[in-house]
Amino acid sequence: MNSCQHLAIIMDGNGRWAKAQGKPRTAGHLVGADNVRTIAIAANDLGVKYLTLYAFSTENWKRSSDEVGYIMKLPSYFFKRYMQEFLDRNFKLNIIGEMNRLPKATQDVLNYGIESSMNNTGLNLNICMNYGSQREITLAAMKYAKDVVDGKASLDISEEEFSGYLMTSGFPPVDFLIRTSGELRISNYLLWQIAYAELEFVPESWPEFTPDVLKRCLDDYYSRDRRFGGVNK
Ligand code: FPP
Repeated sequence: MNSCQHLAIIMDGNGRWAKAQGKPRTAGHLVGADNVRTIAIAANDLGVKYLTLYAFSTENWKRSSDEVGYIMKLPSYFFKRYMQEFLDRNFKLNIIGEMNRLPKATQDVLNYGIESSMNNTGLNLNICMNYGSQREITLAAMKYAKDVVDGKASLDISEEEFSGYLMTSGFPPVDFLIRTSGELRISNYLLWQIAYAELEFVPESWPEFTPDVLKRCLDDYYSRDRRFGGVNK
């Protein structure tokens, strides 16, 4: 049976879920934020070691300033409410993305979460904020090129060595990627890291994505034949 060490989720459909209930889109993001806690606990209970969640992409800046402003305040709401519990559960928070482009208050809250959990050894909860995979790979190439110019890296490196320049350096590759809300897209998410990941697209929106739906997805994943380009007898 496959083990799922690294699970990545594209948390889609908050806005549509809220609209269907006659509520503003932001109401969906709030329920979505609470669901991050629910699913982090469920994933941890199911043996996942790295949970990487797409919260805000480099393309999401195109949304209305009200909506962007609301999402930028969610970390403060979220960590005030749940940080102590996460610490008690030994969760370690990591942020993936260019944090220096986020509002200062958002950066402060995220840095507080990172620093207070840095010695924890349990679930790695990776939240992608202002993240885009093409930007990540471009930045990695720039850093690598500089190391070559500075004589710190050889011109001939392996894929594994190049991985060390990515924002996910030190994390294992993604085993399983789930996207909620029925869209069949990857949307610039972890393009390098999902090279051999299994993919699942579920109709439920993120607010409807319960621990039971997660379990259903993982049961499907466990039953798959992962060959990594080889042949299983
Ligand atoms: C996609 O749904 C969701 C987002 C762009 C925001 C996701 C953010 C959260 C779930 C909260 C993050 C939590 C923390 C702690 C930072 P959508 O708005 O694109 O939905 P739609 O496709 O229905 O419009």
